[in-house]
Amino acid sequence: MNMWTHAIDDALLKIKQNILKHPGKLPHITDGERYEWGDNNDWIEGFYVGMMWLAYEYGQEAFYKESAESYLANFQDRLDRHVALDHHDIGFLYSLSAVAEWHVTGNQAAREAALQAADKLLARWRPRIGIIQAWGREDDPDNGGRMIIDCLLNLPLLFWAYEQTGDAKYYDIAFRHALQSQKFLVRGDGSSYHTFYFHTENGSALRGGTHQGYQDGSTWTRGQAWGIYGFALAYRYTKHEAFLDTSKLLARYFIEHLPEDDVVYWDFDVPVEELTPRDSSASAIAACGLLELLEYMEESDPERTIFEEVLHRSMRSLVEHYATTDLPDAEGLLKHGSYHVRGERAPDDYMIWGDYFYLEALVRLEKGNKAFWYET
Ligand code: GLY
Repeated sequence: MNMWTHAIDDALLKIKQNILKHPGKLPHITDGERYEWGDNNDWIEGFYVGMMWLAYEYGQEAFYKESAESYLANFQDRLDRHVALDHHDIGFLYSLSAVAEWHVTGNQAAREAALQAADKLLARWRPRIGIIQAWGREDDPDNGGRMIIDCLLNLPLLFWAYEQTGDAKYYDIAFRHALQSQKFLVRGDGSSYHTFYFHTENGSALRGGTHQGYQDGSTWTRGQAWGIYGFALAYRYTKHEAFLDTSKLLARYFIEHLPEDDVVYWDFDVPVEELTPRDSSASAIAACGLLELLEYMEESDPERTIFEEVLHRSMRSLVEHYATTDLPDAEGLLKHGSYHVRGERAPDDYMIWGDYFYLEALVRLEKGNKAFWYET
């Protein structure tokens, strides 16, 4: 059994344990290397259901499919009652749950839920600025006119809605948001801002900043990873070459700034001391970004070998030093993720999106599976 298969088997077992132990519940961001289990009211719940779909696609075991399907009504109810949806992460929530279900089973109710979710995401479009507002209401004094790099991963829901309906507004808004992200969030040296502010009245660009990074102007490693994967996905749907170039630029910066064990600290600019937190989730996301990029790179491209080597080194390091394979009762898959270090929220804990992207990368490495809900 190779290293990836062994890691996947352990992950599938843990997903099953969690499902049996916490029926109908969803994991929340929690301090203390554990998950608290609760309702569908944050930005992260899609990852857990997405892991069930990955598990099903990997081994075709009906248990995972039935478990994932059992959450659809819950996600529909959240849409109907607009529970904690005043943010852009609707794409994360509904691509990995409803769109995934529609891809695997063709369930029309899942398709309808995903289309409703896409419409809610569209309502966050600010035409004067050309962005999807990340957080809060339009008149929110701190967040009005603010975009963040993470939003790139919400765009696939809009591209999918365009393919389903033929309505160009989904495509145009996703495309224009990606262009603004490229222009304002990516810096010339390949580093990135986490967030960028615009004037809400006249749409002019104001300044870059951070929310979860070390300081304004630093490079938050998870933001950089969202950028690598997000621009590669934007290229998948649009075939706009400049998005591919931007994804590669961000990947080079990420690779050039890796520490010796190939798993990043939480910010590329934070002074590294003995107890500086890592963010294993950023490395898992970047691994998926590299896998996506490799899909589009010629065999003869010399950079392909570099990306492939780094992908394998980082994944090996995650499996050998960060995975919970030696902790059979652990509920998380990856140790040493960080949510918001400066804000002192879960600085060194399990992150459900870290678990999700780690499993996605493993499954893609092992079976060559694409992330199937992104397929057209
Ligand atoms: N998208 C929120 C985060 O990465 O923490």
